[in-house]
Amino acid sequence: MVESSKQNRKVVIVGAGAVGSTYAYALAQSGIADEIIMIDKNGDLAKGQVMDLVQGQPFFPTVDIRTGTPEDYSDAQLVVITAGAAQRPGETRLQLLRKNAGIVGSIADDVANSGCGGVMVVVSNPVDVLTWVALKSSGWNRSRVLGSGTVLDSARFRHFLARHCGVDVHNVHAYFLGEHGDSEFAAWSMTHVAGIKIDEYCPACENCSDWKEERKQIEQHVRHSAYHIIDSKGFTQFAVGLALVRITGAILRSQHSVLSVSTYVDGEFGISDVCLSLPCIVSHDGIRQILISPLPDEEKAALANSAGIIKQAIASLEG
Ligand SMILES: NC(=O)c1ccc[n+]([C@@H]2O[C@H](COP(=O)([O-])OP(=O)(O)OC[C@H]3O[C@@H](n4cnc5c(N)ncnc54)[C@H](O)[C@@H]3O)[C@@H](O)[C@H]2O)c1
Repeated sequence: MVESSKQNRKVVIVGAGAVGSTYAYALAQSGIADEIIMIDKNGDLAKGQVMDLVQGQPFFPTVDIRTGTPEDYSDAQLVVITAGAAQRPGETRLQLLRKNAGIVGSIADDVANSGCGGVMVVVSNPVDVLTWVALKSSGWNRSRVLGSGTVLDSARFRHFLARHCGVDVHNVHAYFLGEHGDSEFAAWSMTHVAGIKIDEYCPACENCSDWKEERKQIEQHVRHSAYHIIDSKGFTQFAVGLALVRITGAILRSQHSVLSVSTYVDGEFGISDVCLSLPCIVSHDGIRQILISPLPDEEKAALANSAGIIKQAIASLEG
């Protein structure tokens, strides 16, 4: 057992399904957190996930793992929302969106009412819309409410680029930006391999026959990744769980990491009142800064397109 104290790096995970439990599993092994609390509407599920996890404790760094209640929000440094309803037969996407907005809005409300002084990360989909909902429900400053956004998509992008170029994924710096969804786009202007701009690196490498075509294919692979995984196994869990550990590390360890999280945009790039992914400096108090890079016109247009799509979804909640 870890002594409970205000200084503990306490993470509350709301939603103990595939994503929440895989994140908890990866987080436990990372050694980043002192306390991991799991909450789910389905109490038996949360209990079972916790029992299964704690029995692995001899094999990972010391961490207290238990089920919790909304009272646990008050001294959490981080609350991660992976709760959501699955689509029912006959249910429209809009009905599902409204249901999930209700779930996330009410959790965010509870977190804010608890007096929690930490950071909230929304994972439930559609993540950009639900991050906006959580921000508005909580009434918190925009820096403390973020969405996992395209951190996962950026990891997928780096994976495909590394494989294509035949280099270590850690030598690839690349971001997907905009909506975590169909309108997301590769920020090619920010993509580097070992410090070399991708457009200068790739045509020179042996694996490239037609770089323009390869570019298109890599971007499509990233955009369709979730569909391919869901077609095969029904849901995604591992890469998203690890992306969440990366975000958690940036917050609990105050790392000032640049991550493409979903953030409330208030005039940046001429866009406002919407949440979408941009490269942000993430630290213990959430988003320190949105990095404004000089995007070329086509990437600015793609960003504006994403913003329009997310805004429409937000408007549909109100209609
Ligand atoms: N942002 C990303 O990159 C990303 C990636 C994968 C999945 N997701 C999203 O994450 C969410 C969870 O996915 P999953 O596969 O774990 O789903 P899941 O159905 O396995 O788990 C969701 C859990 O939420 C719980 N829940 C529902 N309402 C609740 C409430 N009010 N309070 C507490 N718990 C509640 C359910 O009981 C369920 O256990 C989905 O919305 C999914 O689309 C996001």
